[in-house]
Amino acid sequence: MRVLGLETSCDETAAAVVEASDGLRGRVLADVVHTQQDVHEKWGGVVPELASRDHLQRVLPVIDEALREAGCELRELDGISVTRGPGLVGALLVGVQVGKSLALASGLPLVGVNHIEGHLLAVLLAEQAPAPPWLALVVSGGHTSLYVVRSLGEYEPLGHTLDDAAGEAFDKVAKLLGLPYPGGAHIDRLARSGDPRAIDFPRGLSRRSRAVFDFSFSGLKTAVLMHVREHGVPQGQALADLCASFQEAVCDALTQRAVRAARQARLSSMVICGGVAANSRLRELARERCAAEDIALYLPEPRLCTDNGAMIAMAGAHRLLRGERADPAMSADPGWRL
Ligand code: KG4
Ligand code: ZN
Repeated sequence: MRVLGLETSCDETAAAVVEASDGLRGRVLADVVHTQQDVHEKWGGVVPELASRDHLQRVLPVIDEALREAGCELRELDGISVTRGPGLVGALLVGVQVGKSLALASGLPLVGVNHIEGHLLAVLLAEQAPAPPWLALVVSGGHTSLYVVRSLGEYEPLGHTLDDAAGEAFDKVAKLLGLPYPGGAHIDRLARSGDPRAIDFPRGLSRRSRAVFDFSFSGLKTAVLMHVREHGVPQGQALADLCASFQEAVCDALTQRAVRAARQARLSSMVICGGVAANSRLRELARERCAAEDIALYLPEPRLCTDNGAMIAMAGAHRLLRGERADPAMSADPGWRL
């Protein structure tokens, strides 16, 4: 089954063609991502109106490019999958309307999928993928959650962030330090020459917290703010030390809870996905801690971790294979919970 996947939930316009044999694994035939980073950079964050307008301008050329790359025409495919939510409503609507129009014009079946399900199933397109069940840590600019993937289509939420997403915390701290948006990768780079023990930042929720698998990053963000207020914006080695200490606090909290969740749910495989999964310290610490607990760790390549159309095509493929079809009245659902 060959599926076109469309993703426009935030600041990436993406289209991809994926071939899924039995719905369990897939192969990427084309994967085109247009990022709006330069549109939002000077505002220090995503501006919803600008995002919608840019999606409108880019979505058809991006789809054309994906079909060209896959070497096929729309009518040669077997279905269309589009992100219905969660995300920015105006941005989502562009993808949903284009998906519906293409499905109507071509007669192909259409399915609307949850963006988080896309992140959870992106690993099925990687070279190495586990068989369900597995523990998934989704860490991006918009989400920080732990799920048990029981089977394809069956997801059990174990915990979420109570305030900022991990990527959001990275971006806000970077902004505070005068680094460009999005700041995660800049902090990662600066942290490499810093001392992670230089500043003892808080790790978020205490162990005694009732919801043991939830996360919180706003206290950490405030601690960085207080530090900067007291000492000024650091430069040189002090900047590297602050970045390393902040990053260590985030990665420690993420990996500690993820490993604890896997152990408690008796899962021997873990997948980390979402944009923050590109963080070098998170990858290193997760490898260390999973090895110590005999948990097989899967880290899909960064291209599959950040927002893309292939993960949406993959999530849609297994739904289409099971006969699921979008309601003709389907619309965007910006607050859709998986
Ligand atoms: O998954 P993604 O591309 O988009 C969302 O769905 O949000 O994730 C983007 C987030 C941004 O917050 C960005 O700063 C963060 O991922 N990010 C990183 C790194 N690379 C990207 N955070 C920390 N370290 C990195 N190397
Ligand atoms: Zn995402």
